[in-house]
Amino acid sequence: MEKLLQIEEYLEANKETFESQLIELLKIPSVSADSSFKTSMLEAANWIMHCFEAMKIPAELIPTEGHPIVLAEYHRDDSLPTVLVYGHYDVQPADPLDLWISKPFEPTVRDGNLYARGATDDKGQMFTHLASSQAWMNTVGELPCNIKYLIEGEEEIGSAHLEDFIEAHRERLKADVVVISDTCQLGPDQPAITVGLRGISYFEIFLQGPKQDLHSGSFGGAVTNPVNTLTQLLSSIINKEGQVQIPGFYDAVESLTEEEREQFSGLPFDEENFKEQVGVDGLSGEKGFTTNERRWARPSFDINGVTGGYAGEGAKTVLPAKANAKFSFRLVPKQDPKQIAIDLEKYLRDQLPPGIKMEFKAMHGSPGVVVPQTNPYLQAAVTAIEQGFGKTPYFIREGGSIPVVTTFYESLGLNTLLLGWGLNDDNTHSPNEKFHLADFHRGIRSSAYLWQAIREI
Ligand code: BES
Ligand code: MN
Ligand code: MN
Repeated sequence: MEKLLQIEEYLEANKETFESQLIELLKIPSVSADSSFKTSMLEAANWIMHCFEAMKIPAELIPTEGHPIVLAEYHRDDSLPTVLVYGHYDVQPADPLDLWISKPFEPTVRDGNLYARGATDDKGQMFTHLASSQAWMNTVGELPCNIKYLIEGEEEIGSAHLEDFIEAHRERLKADVVVISDTCQLGPDQPAITVGLRGISYFEIFLQGPKQDLHSGSFGGAVTNPVNTLTQLLSSIINKEGQVQIPGFYDAVESLTEEEREQFSGLPFDEENFKEQVGVDGLSGEKGFTTNERRWARPSFDINGVTGGYAGEGAKTVLPAKANAKFSFRLVPKQDPKQIAIDLEKYLRDQLPPGIKMEFKAMHGSPGVVVPQTNPYLQAAVTAIEQGFGKTPYFIREGGSIPVVTTFYESLGLNTLLLGWGLNDDNTHSPNEKFHLADFHRGIRSSAYLWQAIREI
């Protein structure tokens, strides 16, 4: 008890220090998707390395074929439980830049929020576990349990090298439970533990029509227009009732159970408020399901970007030579991203009209997960969040994906605690990303208590 008081005092006294540390990390533009930021990726990984070194936790920077991984290991005693903390130091591209009020890599505080790319996803959330460890190390001089920290730099591009890394380091990564803070609360002041995530399957297609752009008067109606074909192909993927039309797509999808539906509908959720948050006057989706069922427990299809033809000023009568689209499906557990790629490619090729060639690229995929709600570590997380937030967490699901959660379960047999400190309106992947500083500090506090609660299981 004495120790926890010391920790409380340290956290209170060091709020500004934690904020300025996070600000340093946020200044590094570690955009994993864009190779022109490669040196910043290394810089961010090194910053994290130094953070561990400063608190005397041994850490190693491990190169991969992509961006490096930071692995730190605090080992105290074999008889104590071992936690594996996962987080990511890479961020999404910051564009469109002109929509940011303050620049994405010049972190700025406004109204109690810290604005920067990566503020909540995931540098700010990930850093709560480093800050809580600093508090323990700098006061008590040790952590209450063994903790390993795996911080990667490729989450936002599908964690391409992580699965092999985990397979190759099975012994070193041995643990009792995984902890990840990279999700959201149910709402402001409504902390939540996420017990399910959707998977993803991401594709890009390139259509080639004539060898170069043509006059649409001389050739239109006789030569197939690849932009026309692209829009036809894309709209054939889903019908007006929100159902995906690829044969076999729903074969592995399990129906929601009555308990799940009750658990979802029992949560405080204000649809009007949700619409207001995203700025729309109506919602749509798969027929027969509620908004949260659609977001958390049913597959979905989204076109992420389309290019082709003339989009400049004025009218240009052209029959374009090329068209391209990036699109993705969110998946529920048991749907296999590899099978979906096979079925989808066939479905599209079968529809291709004469005069169009298609290049089909399956970019990345990972299945959805639901973690068992009987796992004893969940109770430790509930206790820790009650201490940190002064509120009992809700059990929710999320529609986003964290591919490594499945790998941890399948390769290492580990369950994950998804303890999210973010808010749904934090603008992740979007301009003006932010992290509510009160949540940052509540997250640090919850994390500090979590290590103790896990020890006491
Ligand atoms: N932190 C998110 C995952 C997330 C988003 C969880 C929303 C809960 C709610 C993560 O960084 C992310 O963006 N993941 C990608 C995964 C993809 C690139 C493989 C995603 O969901 O698009
Ligand atoms: Mn994330
Ligand atoms: Mn993300």
